[in-house]
Amino acid sequence: MILAIETSCDDTCAAVLDGDRLLASVVSSQTLFHARYGGVVPEVASRHHLELINTVMDEALADAGVDLGRIGRVAVTTRPGLIGALLVGVATAKTVAFATGARLVAVSHLEGHVAANYLPPGAAEPPFLCLIASGGHTSLVYVEKDRSFRTVSQTLDDAAGEALDKGARLLGLDYPGGAALDALAASGDPGFASFPVGLDRPGNFNFSFSGVKTALYYYLRDAAPALARERRADIAASYQSAVISALVKKTVAAAESLSCGLVCLAGGVSANSLLRRRLRQQSEARGIDLRIPPPGLCTDNAAMIASAARFLPDLPYPERLSLGAQATGLPV
Ligand SMILES: Nc1ncnc2c1ncn2[C@@H]1O[C@H](COP(=O)(O)OP(=O)(O)OP(=O)(O)O)[C@@H](O)[C@H]1O
Ligand SMILES: [Mg+2]
Repeated sequence: MILAIETSCDDTCAAVLDGDRLLASVVSSQTLFHARYGGVVPEVASRHHLELINTVMDEALADAGVDLGRIGRVAVTTRPGLIGALLVGVATAKTVAFATGARLVAVSHLEGHVAANYLPPGAAEPPFLCLIASGGHTSLVYVEKDRSFRTVSQTLDDAAGEALDKGARLLGLDYPGGAALDALAASGDPGFASFPVGLDRPGNFNFSFSGVKTALYYYLRDAAPALARERRADIAASYQSAVISALVKKTVAAAESLSCGLVCLAGGVSANSLLRRRLRQQSEARGIDLRIPPPGLCTDNAAMIASAARFLPDLPYPERLSLGAQATGLPV
């Protein structure tokens, strides 16, 4: 039985996994604490993790109906993320493992996002192509049969989630903007305005989202205020459609070029309804099998960290005593 801890950004998370049965997954979001600043403040995030982690862990164990004595392995996100935030999770995991005699496993947050796909109900078996699209990362990785990763392409500047969140902010939506933009765009016309996305070239699977952000900025700066107000849903739909189209187009093209019949989605942007819908349509049209984890496993959570830990080795003793955290992860 695995107890997993995830504190890489602003969600304090713990989960209990038994085989592939998820017994509990608790996510305590700090969003409201950071909303007044319009983004995550690293020092505030780590202080809140420190206050919340014991309660979140206790709640996960209570939900699962198990006590610490039954935990055989403790898994923790060690990279990439906010260093102070990561260190709270790492210190907690080391302490629990030391106190209970459980084994300790270090997990990359991005490996975790991908491993959300190894859990039911979708439970994908590699090899597959995975689009990782989150607040801080956007890449296409090929997951080999042995679950190792090979990077196919990545963003050369901003992540897709960053582009969606900043676009939402330019449109006057509250932080965090990704979900609010998705909701506003639902009632808009995606063909209303055109926002060019960088690297729109066949055969180039890398992403670029900094230009489309700037395009929205200039569009809103130059638009008549009344038009920008009245057509806000249409502008939101057009902007979101531009970002999502780039993700869908490159994912499908890369799958075809690699002759890969199975595609998975990972990361918070996979909660975006347009991405889910468009990728499903495009995959079906091409006979590609598409797996998308439920939204709760796409955004940050510890269930995905437990899932990844199943396929990773325990840290040896005594090296595990010096386990630390890294702000930047190895590229996946
Ligand atoms: N319900 C939703 N609908 C649409 N988009 C969403 C939703 N929830 C989250 N997102 C998007 O997901 C992104 C956050 O993803 P995630 O939580 O995986 O990122 P992160 O952990 O901050 O970054 P990383 O995983 O790269 O370290 C946001 O940028 C937002 O745009
Ligand atoms: Mg994440």
